[in-house]
Order: sequence, then C-alpha cells, then structure tokens
Amino acid sequence: MTAFLRAEEITKIFPGVVANDRITIEVESGEIHALLGENGAGKTTLVNILYGLHRPDSGRIVLRGQEVQLRSSRDAIALGIGMVHQHFMLVPPLTVAENIVLGMPSPREPLLDLRPASREISRLSQTYGLEVDPSARVWQLSVGMQQRVEIIKALYRGADLLILDEPTAVLTPQEIGDLFNNLRRLKAEGHAVIFISHKLDEVMEISDRVTVLRDGRLVNTVDTAKTDKASLARMMVGRDVLFRLEKPPVTPGEAVLKVNGLRVMNDRGQTAVGGVSFDICRGEILGVAGVAGNGQRELVEAIAGLRPVVGGEINLGDHMTTYLQPGDLLDLNLAHIPEDRQKVGLVMEFSVSENLVARLFSRLPFARNGFLFLDVIRQNADRLIKEFDIRVPHAEVKARALSGGNQQKVVLARELSREPDLILAAQPTRGLDVGATEFVEHRILDQRSRGAAILYVSTELEEILSLSDRIAVMHRGEIMGVVRPGEVSEEELGLMMAGEKRRS
Ligand SMILES: Nc1ncnc2c1ncn2[C@@H]1O[C@H](COP(=O)(O)OP(=O)(O)O)[C@@H](O)[C@H]1O
Ligand SMILES: [Mg+2]
Repeated sequence: MTAFLRAEEITKIFPGVVANDRITIEVESGEIHALLGENGAGKTTLVNILYGLHRPDSGRIVLRGQEVQLRSSRDAIALGIGMVHQHFMLVPPLTVAENIVLGMPSPREPLLDLRPASREISRLSQTYGLEVDPSARVWQLSVGMQQRVEIIKALYRGADLLILDEPTAVLTPQEIGDLFNNLRRLKAEGHAVIFISHKLDEVMEISDRVTVLRDGRLVNTVDTAKTDKASLARMMVGRDVLFRLEKPPVTPGEAVLKVNGLRVMNDRGQTAVGGVSFDICRGEILGVAGVAGNGQRELVEAIAGLRPVVGGEINLGDHMTTYLQPGDLLDLNLAHIPEDRQKVGLVMEFSVSENLVARLFSRLPFARNGFLFLDVIRQNADRLIKEFDIRVPHAEVKARALSGGNQQKVVLARELSREPDLILAAQPTRGLDVGATEFVEHRILDQRSRGAAILYVSTELEEILSLSDRIAVMHRGEIMGVVRPGEVSEEELGLMMAGEKRRS
C-alpha cells in the first residue's frame, strides 16, 4: 500500500546546523500523525519543506504515489497540502469570508463575489463542525476562532493533508478540546493531519501515530496505542524523565510584595493591566496563569520598574516602589528573570563573566569608584558556572554563543545568587528543553525554601499547577480569581482563562 505522503531521507542544512538529517516520514489518509520533539528538534523545518516554504538539500517527497517538486506553497496548495502556521496569517480588518478567499481567483474577476464563497464556507463549517460567522471581522474573533478560520481557509483551498504547527500553544483547555473534535471530524472524512506538539498528553490523546524527532534526526515512528508517555518522553529527550516535581512544605511568612489596584498600559497605549491587587509572602510562589497576551508581561514589567504605572500602588517590603526605576530597585533586592532573555536578560556581546555581574557593575564587591575588580568578577563567574551547571568552555565566551538553556542559566545565576527577597519569573522555561526546564523549576523551589517571594508567570498550565502555592488567573488585564492548585480543576482554570468564570 502506498502512503498518502512519503517524505524520504529529507535533509536540510542551515548555516551551522543540520535542522533535518535524513528524515523519513509517512502519513496516511484518515490519520492524525503527531510530530513530537523538543524546541529546535526540526519539526517546523520539516513541515515547511512539506509545504514548499523551504527546499530540502536532499531527499524526495512522494504524494499519492508520485514524486513531486514543491517550489513554493502555491505548489503545495495545488497538490492538496494545507498548513496552519504557529503565527496566524490573517488580515484583521477583513471579514472571515474575505480572508478565506484572499489570494484565490474570483469567478467574476475582477469583481470579488463573496456569495458563492460564503455558501462554501458554511458548507465546510457544517461538515467539520467548524462554526464561524463568515461576515465577522477577524479582529473581533478570539484566537481559537481565528485558528478555525485558518483551518477552513486550508480546506477551502482543497487541502487533503492539513499541517498544524503547535496549534495548541495559544489556546485555553476548552479551545484545545474543540480543536481536537474538529481534527477528529477531519480524520473521519478521510483527511490526513500532521499535528505538531511538544506536549506528551496532547499527543497521547489525539494522534494515531507519533513520529519523534530529536536534534534534527528521526528517533522513531510508533503507534500511539502501543506506547506511553514515559517512552515518548525518553525518545524525545534521550533519557528518563521524572514527571513529578517534589515540592517541600514551606510555611509562608510575612507579605513581601503588595500590589494594590495596579493599572498599566501596553505599548499601544491601551490598558493592559486594569486594576489588579494581590500579595505574595515569603516562601510562597504565586503562579500567574493565562493565555499569552492578557497583561502578564506588562504586570511583571511594571513591578520590575521597566514600565510606568498609571494607577494603583506597588509595595516591596516597607517601601513604596510604584515609581522607582530598575536601578533603584536593585537596592531593594528584587530579581527579574525576564521573558525575553536575549534582549532584556543578557547583553549578547558581553562575555558570560560580564553578564554574571551585569547589573552590579558599578558596585562593591565588583567595583569601587569606577574601578572594576577583575579578579573578583572572574571568581564570581567560576563559582556560578559551577553552581548553576552552565555548560561553557570558559567564562570569557560571549553570551551569544550559548544555547537557550545555558543563556537562561546565566540569567538565573546572576539574579538568584544575590538571594533576592522577591523574584519575578516571566516564562522562565519557555523554549527550554526538558532538562533545562527541570533545572529552572528546582532552582525556583530552592528559592522558595530559602524564603523568597516568587511571582511565576507561565502559559503552561501544568507547570503553574505543579509549582504554585496559589494561582492568579489573568484575562484581559484582570485577575479572574486566586485559587489553590489542589482546589481547582483544569477545566475551571480554563473557564477563568477564557474570562467566562470568576472566583473571589
Ligand atoms: N531559517 C532558519 N535559518 C537558520 N536556522 C534555522 C532556521 N529555521 C530553523 N533553524 C534552526 O534549525 C533547527 C530546527 O529548528 P525548527 O525546525 O524550528 O525546530 P522546532 O520546530 O522543532 O522547534 C534549530 O536549531 C533552528 O535554530
Ligand atoms: Mg517549531
């Protein structure tokens, strides 16, 4: 039997990295085929090749038993391959119907006749349970809805194979459930689906087969029914993985951070944080849950002194810090692990040893009256490299040369070695592999045991549930409620994330 799609020995080399190293994968009609791998494993590169966005350096693609040449995504679309990218490609001011027909020849050229298109969209919506209003404007739609529009758009163009690159990363748990139902309908109608994820639970739930990639290489393709989470994790990471985080009991102390009625704007001058209040105590982790873009970033930046406060108050210990700058906050022992470690967390052109003192350059013990104490800086670096297991040949390597995980370790080492009273951790594990993620989580728990107060922002619900003592759920700049991990279901958290439920 010939597979619907067979990609054979695909190799793709980018400057300095073999993104795909002789990967072979087969996808059948009526199959949901998961592509699983850690960040940087080569998943996106592979599907970009299948969608004609990259040319492979070698290998061949056989579709419906015939070798094909994909010079562009136009070729792929013409052959019945559709893709929903990690970042949507819709035009916000246009309607759903306009977005779907955009770039397609109109039967009444040059006039754009949307009536037949609307009828076809309604038919597709019904067949696949993909409910959308063709006349709604895209900017008015939720992220989950926009994703649905992307799927319909691909089907409208005649996709027999639909590729979804990390589609769940931007969704609430309920939206993920809806998406999975849609995918099951597609499969029942005979479509082939390639579903990319790095989340084992999702892959176990939705796929028929799983292909695991690691470091650009194929590890294996297995039947989902014949494998389990632990085996998949081992294939993905290359070693055994512990799923449970040991969280030692800690009795919280007095409040370190008090936020009262805080209001903050985003970069476009709109309200990003609309009057939130909460406290965090010594020895406590307050997790901030929410779909990305609901004010989490602005909240952290405001507390870190990086973004002006337009209303309300921030108190750190006995100090009112609402209007302080980052430099002033240093004396108050605040640590910040920023969301963007490459732009904010590190100076990429500086060495590791310089980065390990970056914010303290002007101070004892590293400097006095403008003189740098190079010996002390060097000793500091050697000590932290060892303590935080930073993998570098030596301390004078530039930060740019490090992997994402090691860059994050440099940030952690610098920020946590000062024994801060308050730690602002914004998506500290994003983009890290499982090993580096475990490392970060353990260091954060160490700080909790030491008595630090920790604000921990993450869009990964599992991580929030396993680390937090209390969870604040953010939706559109508001806190929908503060709950304890043991006392709330994932479903309830999902409703709060979607703004459909409040808890006091
Ligand atoms: N356009 C590109 N130019 C250079 N390197 C790239 C490019 N796209 C991806 N890479 C590199 O190829 C590797 C695989 O990346 P990617 O396919 O995006 O992985 P994944 O989707 O599994 O996270 C990574 O090391 C990445 O940095
Ligand atoms: Mg990717």
